[in-house]
Amino acid sequence: MQFTYDKSGFYLDGKPFRFISGTIHYFRVPKEFYRDRLTKLKECGFNAVETYVAWNMIEREEGVFDYGESYDLGMFLDIAKELGLYAIVRPGPYICAEWDFGGLPAWLLAKDLTVRTHDTLYLSYVKRYFTSLFDILRPRLLSNGGNILMMQVENEYGSYGSDKEYLMAVRDMYKELDMDVLLFTSDGPNLDMLKNGTVDGCLATVNFGSGPKAAFETLNTVLPDCPPMCMEYWCGWFDHWTEQHHVRSAEDTAACFDEMLSLGASVNFYVFCGGTNFGFMNGANHFEVLQPTVTSYDYDALLDESGRRTAKYYAVRDVIKKHLGDFETKDLPELPAKAYGRVELTESCDAFDMLGSAVVTDKLLTAEEAGYYYGYTLYSFEADKGTLEIKGVHDVAYVYANENLVATLYRDQETPIQLKEFSVVDVLVDNLGRVNYGPELPDRKGIVGSVTVNGKEVTSFSIFGFGDDMCRRADYEDGIIDAAPVMLRGRFNVDKVCDTFLYLPTFTRGVAFVNGFNLGRYRKEGPQVSLYVPSNILQKGENIIEIFETEGFDEPYVVFDNKMNLGE
Ligand code: GLA
Repeated sequence: MQFTYDKSGFYLDGKPFRFISGTIHYFRVPKEFYRDRLTKLKECGFNAVETYVAWNMIEREEGVFDYGESYDLGMFLDIAKELGLYAIVRPGPYICAEWDFGGLPAWLLAKDLTVRTHDTLYLSYVKRYFTSLFDILRPRLLSNGGNILMMQVENEYGSYGSDKEYLMAVRDMYKELDMDVLLFTSDGPNLDMLKNGTVDGCLATVNFGSGPKAAFETLNTVLPDCPPMCMEYWCGWFDHWTEQHHVRSAEDTAACFDEMLSLGASVNFYVFCGGTNFGFMNGANHFEVLQPTVTSYDYDALLDESGRRTAKYYAVRDVIKKHLGDFETKDLPELPAKAYGRVELTESCDAFDMLGSAVVTDKLLTAEEAGYYYGYTLYSFEADKGTLEIKGVHDVAYVYANENLVATLYRDQETPIQLKEFSVVDVLVDNLGRVNYGPELPDRKGIVGSVTVNGKEVTSFSIFGFGDDMCRRADYEDGIIDAAPVMLRGRFNVDKVCDTFLYLPTFTRGVAFVNGFNLGRYRKEGPQVSLYVPSNILQKGENIIEIFETEGFDEPYVVFDNKMNLGE
């Protein structure tokens, strides 16, 4: 089959083709639910699915390519194909996506290179990643009998840089690696962005949430040969901690979509189903202050975070029927959710007892330089009585002197600390998620500035790190230590395995695990209240809940309910 385009649209073997596509990030939905979410996409009248690929999920450790137990790109594409859906794949290397470091692996931050430029070292890592990834994607290209119609070069590069040599290098890797597929770029509908983000030989598309007519006109001014395509139709939006929860009405979403179809455009809904930033993988924005993205990536999309249909789903389906004609729909019943109720946490472990071995250094290292990429970093050093100054806290630091909490420091707002005596100082640094957009993109974690005592630089440190391995490290004892940082554990019984939602009414800030699976971060300030617990991680009989809390709690219990709450 041939897939081509001209200024009025796309063609499959010469026949007009229009994308009615929806985004589902395969790495934000456990693979057990791929069929459920993709079937719902198909049943809504869509003909394609779009996914990013997050490099940092595939090459989490440098040089080790892991296609994952929980997420499976090949399986995702194959189920889509089986359901009769085409695919659009956007493998970055940078993807933005409100994902840690925009999908770039954190280990790049310990190297002497500049990401998103034609830096030779950076490009060599990109090439190694593509070489591995493309072995999964190549057989699934349309040209090889698969369902992938097109792939994206970089992501919204025009809002970041203007290094065409870089874009050309990424583009050329497709050819060098024998990827016979239509290539495209996507950018904001702005003249400068389109000028900087587009590259010869790649179709240009635009991203926006409203104003399609003006957006397509701008696209047409810069690239008159490209058909109108909205690669990211923002049908909702994401949330930051401590800010408001975003919603967009079904009517407004449907009306703008209706307008796009009337204009003859192709559309990809960003997102059809957002899923979850499980683990430590949420990203952050940085406009003067750090704004970390919440754990849920619900996005007020057509399916909610847990894959259930929303009013928007039906409103959009009506628009599709209006333009393409009626079609039969046999809606799958929704998967049940259950309220398992209140669970007491009865065991605990002091966080200082789960540190493991340290990197001992004679200079200050960032978390990445110490080899700790996701989760918490602890710096231990000795300090004389006097003024302790810690600069470049990324992102929150709990400072203990001789095991007593003496200060909590926040990024960009660090203040000096007075030590009353010679102290062993422990600084526990919480990484709240790496910036995924804009000039602060290379966002290193841990302490990235300096540590001084009475103006003199401290150079000897023992640096510890822990993240997804926390559950394995904790050595619990019966009873609750009423102090933080602490790891707590409880057990609950499951009769029927269903999705559920975790509430932590008395907790302040930390991360929650069920049966060792990292559900993500929680924060008392919200807006997100509940954490999604997908049924695939539960088992019939006894299940384990573990909480790592850094600030404190009132009563040691949690609640599993059957409804989610993402805030007001
Ligand atoms: C841009 C990016 C996406 C995402 C959206 C906002 O368009 O390309 O990855 O970050 O913004 O959700």
